[in-house]
Amino acid sequence: MPEQIRAIRGVRDILPAEAPTWQTLEAAAREVFEPCGYRELRLPLFERTELFARGIGETTDVVEKEMYTFQDRSGESVTLRPEATAAVARAYIEHGLFTQPKPVRLYTVGPMFRYERPQAGRYRQFHQVNVEALGEAAPALDAEVVGMLMAYFARLGLADRLALHVNSIGDAACRPAFRAALAAHLEANLGRLCEECRGRVARNPLRVLDCKKPDCQPVIEKAPSILDALCGPCREHFDRVRAYLDALGLRYEVTPRLVRGLDYYVRTTFEVLTGELGAQNAVAGGGRYDGLIELLGGPADPGIGFAIGMERVALLLGPRPDPAAAAVLLVPLGEPALRRCLALAQALRATGVPTEVAYGGRKLRGELERANRLGIPRVLILGDDELAAGVATLRDMRSGEQRRIPLREAVAVLGGGPAAAGDRA
Ligand code: HAM
Repeated sequence: MPEQIRAIRGVRDILPAEAPTWQTLEAAAREVFEPCGYRELRLPLFERTELFARGIGETTDVVEKEMYTFQDRSGESVTLRPEATAAVARAYIEHGLFTQPKPVRLYTVGPMFRYERPQAGRYRQFHQVNVEALGEAAPALDAEVVGMLMAYFARLGLADRLALHVNSIGDAACRPAFRAALAAHLEANLGRLCEECRGRVARNPLRVLDCKKPDCQPVIEKAPSILDALCGPCREHFDRVRAYLDALGLRYEVTPRLVRGLDYYVRTTFEVLTGELGAQNAVAGGGRYDGLIELLGGPADPGIGFAIGMERVALLLGPRPDPAAAAVLLVPLGEPALRRCLALAQALRATGVPTEVAYGGRKLRGELERANRLGIPRVLILGDDELAAGVATLRDMRSGEQRRIPLREAVAVLGGGPAAAGDRA
């Protein structure tokens, strides 16, 4: 027997039973973002490696060790996208979207790829809903974007199970001094940091603030706070963002240790955390990235956005009712009846009633068992004699009750009405 070929580690199939959950996540994105003026952008799954290396930052974990990078047949280095923001910025520049009235509001949904250690809620292919607002620096836009993120979770009924954390990580004017002060503090306590953090002190000291290891916590707790180091304009920006978040009635915590794993962020950063998924507690994260578009060869346009981790939200949401589940099974007991049932099924489906037809081969009892297993609430049985008399037998699978109905009323009886809707719920 040939050996079975399995999916790659950390790469999951989304099976039909999960489809209603995923469709809910995608529909909610459209329903919440489009009324706010966000338009969908569909991007390629791979880009030139240079885009991510420059955009995300050479010393980030993502670029240093998590990218799926390979040479294509012409020898060009390409990378499966580990995130969408750099690619959105590339498209914004490449297609001259910056000439449109600003902010340019975009969203995109799809898979990302990171070579991380797989565990519950962390995968090597995962999916994000990504939102970006480009070309506008006003702090009110930060609040719009964060407010929309929380509206998304509210739409899914998850708001009470999530906590919003916000921070400012300063900009090129104030962060270098903070970075130096932080590095000095970490340097002085090098022996009390985990091995990974020791390596980070020189290259990317801010990332140490994000370490979850218990050993590092005492040093992190004593570290200087970025909020004490913000320059005047960054402080004012952050104060105004908070005032607008308050105006929106949003509950949030200011978390000065909140740093993000990608280098392009300035000023506002935020994350949405859950206590329900163990170590993978971030369901969404984002922030401002003024400077990224310029770094990628475009105009000096600012930007802000976020990405939602769909696998993690799917875990929180759990299974959803299946809209494609059959509401009725038609069981013909003969060839003329089958022909009638095929036409009847078509008419029912056209009115929005998911309908299945038994194609024969099984006895009536077998079909009823199958309807039970599939959870189909009603079965319409049509024998050739009944067909000749213009009637059919309607069976309620829960009560086992059967009644005769006129065939020409079948669509009216089975379709659309309150009884049918109740049956499906
Ligand atoms: P990120 O924090 O790297 O940000 O990812 C955003 C979210 O994607 C995380 O909070 C998490 O829910 C999910 N996620 C990340 N890695 C994995 C994984 N390996 N498995 C499952 N879920 C994962 C960004 O990607 C930025 N581009 C967000 C952004 C947009 N900033 C501005 N605009």
